[in-house]
Amino acid sequence: MACRNIYPNPMSPSLERRVRHHLWSMLPLPAHQTKDVPLLTYPITPFRTVQLVQKAPLDSVSTGTTLYLSSQLLAHYLQETTPKGVTAIELGSGTGLVSIALGILGWEVWATDLELVIDDVLRVNIERNREEAKIVVQELDWCSDTWEWVYPQNEEWRSDGIPEFDLIVCADGVYSMDLILPLLRTLKKLSGARSPLVLLAFERRDSGVIDCFFKESKAFGFVSKKVNIRRILGRQIARWGWTSDDWHSVEIWTMRLKVGDTREGYA
Ligand SMILES: C[S@@+](CC[C@H](N)C(=O)[O-])C[C@H]1O[C@@H](n2cnc3c(N)ncnc32)[C@H](O)[C@@H]1O
Repeated sequence: MACRNIYPNPMSPSLERRVRHHLWSMLPLPAHQTKDVPLLTYPITPFRTVQLVQKAPLDSVSTGTTLYLSSQLLAHYLQETTPKGVTAIELGSGTGLVSIALGILGWEVWATDLELVIDDVLRVNIERNREEAKIVVQELDWCSDTWEWVYPQNEEWRSDGIPEFDLIVCADGVYSMDLILPLLRTLKKLSGARSPLVLLAFERRDSGVIDCFFKESKAFGFVSKKVNIRRILGRQIARWGWTSDDWHSVEIWTMRLKVGDTREGYA
């Protein structure tokens, strides 16, 4: 007996576009597949989507104006592991996904980046998606010696004193030799006496840069440990239909300044 083919023929381009657009709003796609989407609908939790403005690198001089894999995986890792605390800062927030995830989890968040990225995408994304969450956006250049602080509790208030953080996060900030020392100096200053948990996510594009970062981090007094993200996120990501190639280069590390370590690292 002949069977009727119930499956449609290969999709027309317009149907494929509609299906892909629908899927974007249901399941996370790997960031490298959505770089050209100017307004990305991203399912940050099974019950909540956020809308992220992205600008193609050609429209902007910075790397931070589209979403990166590291942010995606760190945002989901935070939901799985729920570290404890109240105040969190994100360095190099880019499109802001991790800060938004922290806000949803109830943290008071400082979302920070260079001014250009803030003006291009970060501020609009936080405003669009923060709802009741306490998230402030402020410039924080790792190469600068001083920063002016705004506060989630009172955004009119300004201060030079570094707030005390319970958590520091940075997604895809370890990618250039030139930024290793500025980033480590920033992490050390922000760690203060409290020595909060630092979570770093990155893509291992250039092992020379990554290995150099962790070697230098020891000189600054940090202890680091690689997280087994395959164990924590593997099943969830398989449900999204991602292949191992989609995310094998991403790593998440915990870092913490050894209490009482006053070493400055390299000048
Ligand atoms: C590869 S992007 C990652 C963006 C975002 N965290 C993500 O994962 O989607 C690197 C980010 O670091 C920021 N960055 C680079 N140099 C910086 C500096 N000196 N001070 C502060 N942020 C910096 C860039 O502006 C950019 O947002």
